[in-house]
Amino acid sequence: MAVLPLRHLPDPVLRQKAKRIRTIDAALQRLIDDMIETMHAENGVGLAANQVGVLRRVVVIQLPDDEQATVLINPEIILREGEVEVHEGCLSIPGYRGDLKRAVTVRVKALDRTGKSFRIRGQELLAEALEHETDHLDGILYIDHITDPESFYKMDSLDASEGDRQANTASG
Ligand code: NI
Repeated sequence: MAVLPLRHLPDPVLRQKAKRIRTIDAALQRLIDDMIETMHAENGVGLAANQVGVLRRVVVIQLPDDEQATVLINPEIILREGEVEVHEGCLSIPGYRGDLKRAVTVRVKALDRTGKSFRIRGQELLAEALEHETDHLDGILYIDHITDPESFYKMDSLDASEGDRQANTASG
C-alpha cells in the first residue's frame, strides 16, 4: 500500500467525470488500498479517485467511529431527503471551509470491492460524505453548492473559537 499524492484545485482532474468501473481486478484492489491509506494519512473521512488523479468511479468513506472504510464502486444516489446546512471542507481545497446545504438522509446503491451490489442509507455526516464523494466523481466540488461568497472562507482568518469548530469539521 502507498500514500498517493493528492490533487488540489485547480488540477483539471478534479473537474472531470470519472468513468464507470466494469472490471474488478487486482489493479483496482491496489487503488482501493492506496486510497484508504491516503485518506488515513490525510485525516479525511472520505476520498474519491479523482483526488488521486484516477478517473474511475470509486470512493472510500470512513467516519471517525467507523472501524473500517466503506468502499463504494460506481455509487449512485437513489434518494435524497431533507435539507440541512453543513460546514464542510475538502482535502483537495486545503485551508478553506464553506457553509452549504446538504440532504439530511441519502440512500446510495453501489458495488463493494468484491463486486457485490449493496445499498447504504446515511444520515448527517454519512449522508454529507456520500454526497460529497459522489459529487467528486462527476467533477463537482462543495464550493459549487455555495451561493453566498461570504460562506466560503480561509481557515486562518477566523478567531480561535471558530478555529476549534473548524478542527472538528470533516474533509473528504
Ligand atoms: Ni472533497
